[in-house]
Amino acid sequence: LGRRKNVTGVMAEQLPRDVIQLLKDFGELAEGLGYKAYAVGGFIRDLLLRRSNLDIDIVVEGDGIRFARAFAEKYGVRARCHKKFNTAVLIFPDGLKVDVATARLEYYQYPAALPVVQFGSLKMDLYRRDFTINTLAVALNPEEFGELIDFFGGQKDIKDKAVRVLHNLSFVEDPTRILRAVRFEQRFSFKVGKQTAGLMRNTVKMGLLSKLGGHRLFHELQQILMEEDPLPAIRRMGEFELLAAFHPSLRYDAHMQALFARVKEVISWYELSFLDEPLESWWVYFLVLFSRLSRKELKQVLDRLEIPLSRQERIVWTYNRVDHLLGTFFRLPDPRPSDIYRALQPFRPEELLFLMVQATCEDVRRIVSHYCHRYRHVQTELKGRDLKAMGFPPGPLYSRILNDLLDARLNGQVRSRAEELEFVKARWPVLEKASNGS
Ligand code: CTP
Repeated sequence: LGRRKNVTGVMAEQLPRDVIQLLKDFGELAEGLGYKAYAVGGFIRDLLLRRSNLDIDIVVEGDGIRFARAFAEKYGVRARCHKKFNTAVLIFPDGLKVDVATARLEYYQYPAALPVVQFGSLKMDLYRRDFTINTLAVALNPEEFGELIDFFGGQKDIKDKAVRVLHNLSFVEDPTRILRAVRFEQRFSFKVGKQTAGLMRNTVKMGLLSKLGGHRLFHELQQILMEEDPLPAIRRMGEFELLAAFHPSLRYDAHMQALFARVKEVISWYELSFLDEPLESWWVYFLVLFSRLSRKELKQVLDRLEIPLSRQERIVWTYNRVDHLLGTFFRLPDPRPSDIYRALQPFRPEELLFLMVQATCEDVRRIVSHYCHRYRHVQTELKGRDLKAMGFPPGPLYSRILNDLLDARLNGQVRSRAEELEFVKARWPVLEKASNGS
């Protein structure tokens, strides 16, 4: 391998100081146990690409679980161990997570001898991985801290901006890698290598994607939709005929492109406007992706992806409800705020954004925006206990009164607690008396 490149300089440039210290701590602990520890995979890939990534993966040549337990004890963090896989997750108080894996020791010098800890085991571990760009490792033990280990040409492929598999059976072993290839290619603006692209096409032709379990297929789709901009990956999926693995009638075309562009707009609008409201933005893309399928085709996709029935029902409900609103409600002139509230209140934010994407007219988007800004969080000041104090008998009547009051509040008929009291008294007098009399 000759002299190895040392990347401590890049680490100092790219990583927070405490993370570098953490990596050194790992190395020292490994040294003390007679092990070797390496940071590997996406973390190193992104380090070389100068992209921030604090998902740290450690491979230990030695007993990974013992290593994780020793670390957890020494530094007072939590270790969750998976004995079956010889892996562990270290969970830090600030939420940082580090995955620890064991490079297995399967090399014996002579019969009945103790296993020999060797570089070979790291190499074997890395050989099982998907793409060369994910096979880089950095040594952490003190004497070699920061040395870059590159068995499979990962550095060159990063330089060439190429996504390449390590061997010809990679996609056959794990067809989800076909979708991962597209995802990495588009995320980094790389290109899938020629031979790798050929292997992808062959695997698709062999029908191996259709053998994949629904959960895994769904997970890979979700990963793609969670990318900063999923559109190019969807386009690429079209080119590799991967969309058909979801449904034969799914297409990438100009319309899909336009819809995805609108999703991007509404998501950035929402995120800028409502900074601390959580949004699962990939879900908007998901809804849009399948929005043009017939109900029957939709059912086929959702079954293929093994989406639980309750969620399937919600999805169908969303499509139906959006169709209904766009077809009727939003055609009515001058809806009152309370009508808008009643129409939109059942939606989750992701579903509202889907509605905005589906709407062809600017008015609808404006109304939804008003709803989000002004109406969504409006509440009555009076609560059930106030109604009780007023003498109303507890029961379903309460929600009728409070709903009525909320409408009045939304429509600007009442603006204070005093006005709310007056409103209720004026509107429900008979009942008040009835309850007083009883
Ligand atoms: N891996 C693989 N085959 C898969 C999934 C993962 O070989 N089907 C390997 C990859 O080499 C990867 C490592 O397992 O480096 C960890 O997987 P993951 O966390 O999904 O990959 P990252 O490269 O960290 O991807 P991301 O940046 O999207 O988190």
